[in-house]
Amino acid sequence: DLEARSRRNNIRLVGIPEDFSTSSTATAISTLLKEALELQKEPLVDRAHLILQPKPKPGTTWMQEIVPLIMSGGDPASVETLPNWRRVPWMEVDNTCKLNLEQRPSPRILSTHFQYAMMPPSFSEIKPKVIYVMRNPKDVFTSSFHFYGMTSFLVKPGPQSEFLHKFLDGKVMFGSWFDHVKSWLNAEDKDRIMYISYEEMIMDLKDSVARIAQFLEKPLDTEVMEKIADRCLFKNMKQNKMSNYSTVPRVYMDQTKSEFLRKGIAGDWKNQLTVAEAEYFEAVYKDKMKDVKYKFAWD
Ligand code: A3P
Repeated sequence: DLEARSRRNNIRLVGIPEDFSTSSTATAISTLLKEALELQKEPLVDRAHLILQPKPKPGTTWMQEIVPLIMSGGDPASVETLPNWRRVPWMEVDNTCKLNLEQRPSPRILSTHFQYAMMPPSFSEIKPKVIYVMRNPKDVFTSSFHFYGMTSFLVKPGPQSEFLHKFLDGKVMFGSWFDHVKSWLNAEDKDRIMYISYEEMIMDLKDSVARIAQFLEKPLDTEVMEKIADRCLFKNMKQNKMSNYSTVPRVYMDQTKSEFLRKGIAGDWKNQLTVAEAEYFEAVYKDKMKDVKYKFAWD
């Protein structure tokens, strides 16, 4: 039914888990599809000026903290009054994020996990600014493995070696990491896209905040930028109840299994992957990325 409906509506399904058997997965997917259909009716991007474009687990929540602080000139209220998913909603998840576009002042700040080809047509007409956040896929895998294990709305990851194959084959939420990154690296109008990596932000958060502020054309005093960077350090951000998912009931996210703001470091894959898994990952990575010229921070 899902496949037929998506064909009828000209929707391409990407990264749908193989395991359709659990009813929660089926429900989640059909809700997502329904929302996608609704979104098509709504010229969403017509009324948005600014979009963040992160792939799951690269530091979406981090960016949902940094950008409102920059846009508000460092006002703590910008990240203390609403949970991150309401503050910078995912355009594809209207039911929990409450897009309420009319009530959002322009330039609106939205996030999405869509690949480039999945953006609605108005995206290329309105040309919003995009911040595309990337992260070493081995760390995306590691973070995802823990995340899938602590949520009740995603298919259980299974043993690590199995999840590794699913991840590398793109049989995870929002599809293949490789396709996602390549799709955005090959996007048109690159001058309105800022590419930044988790690793750069870890290495120098102050400099990253300054670059993001410049890209957003929001000049700020050095002192304000320093305060923003300090607030957004892992240890400080972790204390923000509006950003650490502590308001989400345990039935959806069990943070006793793994915290959402888990480790916040670059290179944790070294503690997670076996030598053989890391070698296999590297071989797949080299093959799939062989034509990509972009110099990634993790390389
Ligand atoms: P880990 O699981 O490796 O700790 P997303 O928000 O895209 O789902 O990504 C979540 C990842 O970003 C988690 O990675 C989380 O800890 C990390 N993260 C969130 N805020 C961070 C911050 N201020 N500093 C460093 N990492 C952060």
